[in-house]
Amino acid sequence: MFLRKRSLFVSIGQLFSERTCSQVASQSSKPESKIKIQNGPGLSHFLKNNPSKRREKIFPAVVDTHAYISPDQISGEGKKVMLVTFGCQMNVNDMEIVRGLLVQNGYSETTVESEADAILIMTCSIRDGAEEKIWNRLKHLKKSQRRPRTIAVLGCMAERVKSTLLTAPGDLCQVVAGPDSYRDLPRLLALSRSGTKAMNVQLSFEETYADVSPVRVDADSKSAFVSIMRGCDNMCTYCIVPFTRGRERSRPIDSIVDEVRRLRDEGVKQITLLGQNVNSYRDTSESSISLGVDSKMVDGFSTVYGQKSGGRSFATLLDNVSRVDDEMRIRFTSPHPKDFPTEVITLIKERKNICNQIHLPAQSGDDKVLEAMGRGYSRETYLSLVSHIKNVIPDVCLTSDFIAGFCGETEEAHQNTLNLIREVDYSFCFVFPYSMREGTRAHRRLVDDVPEEIKMKRHEELASVFREVTLRRNLSRIGETELVLVEGRSKRSANAVSGRSDGGIVVIIEERDKKIHAGDYVVAKITGGTSQTMIGEYISHSSIREYDNLR
Ligand code: SAH
Ligand code: SF4
Ligand code: F3S
Repeated sequence: MFLRKRSLFVSIGQLFSERTCSQVASQSSKPESKIKIQNGPGLSHFLKNNPSKRREKIFPAVVDTHAYISPDQISGEGKKVMLVTFGCQMNVNDMEIVRGLLVQNGYSETTVESEADAILIMTCSIRDGAEEKIWNRLKHLKKSQRRPRTIAVLGCMAERVKSTLLTAPGDLCQVVAGPDSYRDLPRLLALSRSGTKAMNVQLSFEETYADVSPVRVDADSKSAFVSIMRGCDNMCTYCIVPFTRGRERSRPIDSIVDEVRRLRDEGVKQITLLGQNVNSYRDTSESSISLGVDSKMVDGFSTVYGQKSGGRSFATLLDNVSRVDDEMRIRFTSPHPKDFPTEVITLIKERKNICNQIHLPAQSGDDKVLEAMGRGYSRETYLSLVSHIKNVIPDVCLTSDFIAGFCGETEEAHQNTLNLIREVDYSFCFVFPYSMREGTRAHRRLVDDVPEEIKMKRHEELASVFREVTLRRNLSRIGETELVLVEGRSKRSANAVSGRSDGGIVVIIEERDKKIHAGDYVVAKITGGTSQTMIGEYISHSSIREYDNLR
């Protein structure tokens, strides 16, 4: 089945590279020169009116040139895999897809390293440190190896580093599979069993794994992630994601709603919709395109690719998904500020099961830095979106991502970011020291000129200001009530459970006489807190509808 599907693949490398590439580069362990390396897309490929977008003219049909592998060889019957995940939530969900595909192929899973015939590592490339961790893990696995086994590197680092993973000294890895080639994994693993190193880093315009049922690690968990779109067309200058994940593409609404229904039937109480640009979602599948509904960009925001139109928008998807069960909470991550039209904000306000938490990654509070980052908005535009959101949803919890020490960031620019954090009054922030990534626009055009110790100092300052803000916010809730969806036992206290408020803040509730289970909605009165959690006293069990009626 995957062979048929693969013939649809068109690689972004193929699309845009002047070199010709094979669809899959597989290699016998000896002649390293036979590995064919694909280049990723450049900025011009994301720009408006780019002639190379006329893909039917340029892209030849992909031909499978590989040695024949029999179905018996491909089967994973009797073989065990160990799955290890690094990186973002998309990676966690991708590993669920990989698990689903391997189980379909007869593999079973083990968590015992010495039992595994193959160890598959899902990787991240976002910062240098993320890749460093993977190299260390590969070396450690090599040292601990007691019998022949395959090490496969999947995900973003596979896509970025490609054949270097196969040719690195020490024979650290035998299979490399990029984010769009997981259907090919059974074949790649079979090739490695027959002594051939194998790689597929083909990116695709279509692959969304819409028909693959992800298999969750913890099937009893009351929270699940549903991937709704893949890739990113934004090309922020610092970011490697467009190169590792390829072009934006969305999964058809119907397949998403079906998956959400199936999860509801399995007892799931909270769905998080996932995508690198989750709110840029546009279902342009045949069933939707005729509807001609435009996705609207917020006024004042811009992109390198212009306005996209047609298809069913994120608002329509959110509407459909939230109607599946009004007692199931809906969250989404990670969005981009440019795609928050009023209809999405109003829907969040009106639909009680869509959580009042919006991740609005700002990255910086300084206009010059925002410009250099290619974010497509100014501080003022961002703040006017914030005030619009707060006007519509007064109790909204806003969260953000920030980068410390980007190219050309002055002390004044850094201060502008610190005061943006105070001004917006975020309920949580993720802060990262800037890490220059080879191949990004910043790498080609800008200078990584903020010294490492200054980056670290600014990173620390961003973290301490956001902690100050979030501590004040959490303590200001003392005496108020929150509807908490319980996730499980608290790791901090034997007699307590832990869950999340509607705004996404962790709430620890002591369990007294009343038994509280994962998946229960409970009303808690807030009695204390830290910068990252609130402490609550159990009041009663409840539901979204009942709690809303009480207020
Ligand atoms: N698509 C999402 C998430 C992208 S990655 C978004 O735009 O919000 C998550 C975060 O990693 C980014 O928001 C950014 O803050 C950070 N990041 C990305 N590239 C980085 C780099 N080169 N160095 C440091 N942080 C980076
Ligand atoms: Fe990276 Fe920007 Fe895309 Fe986010 S929106 S994945 S930061 S390029
Ligand atoms: Fe990392 Fe790729 Fe996610 S680079 S953050 S695993 S999209």
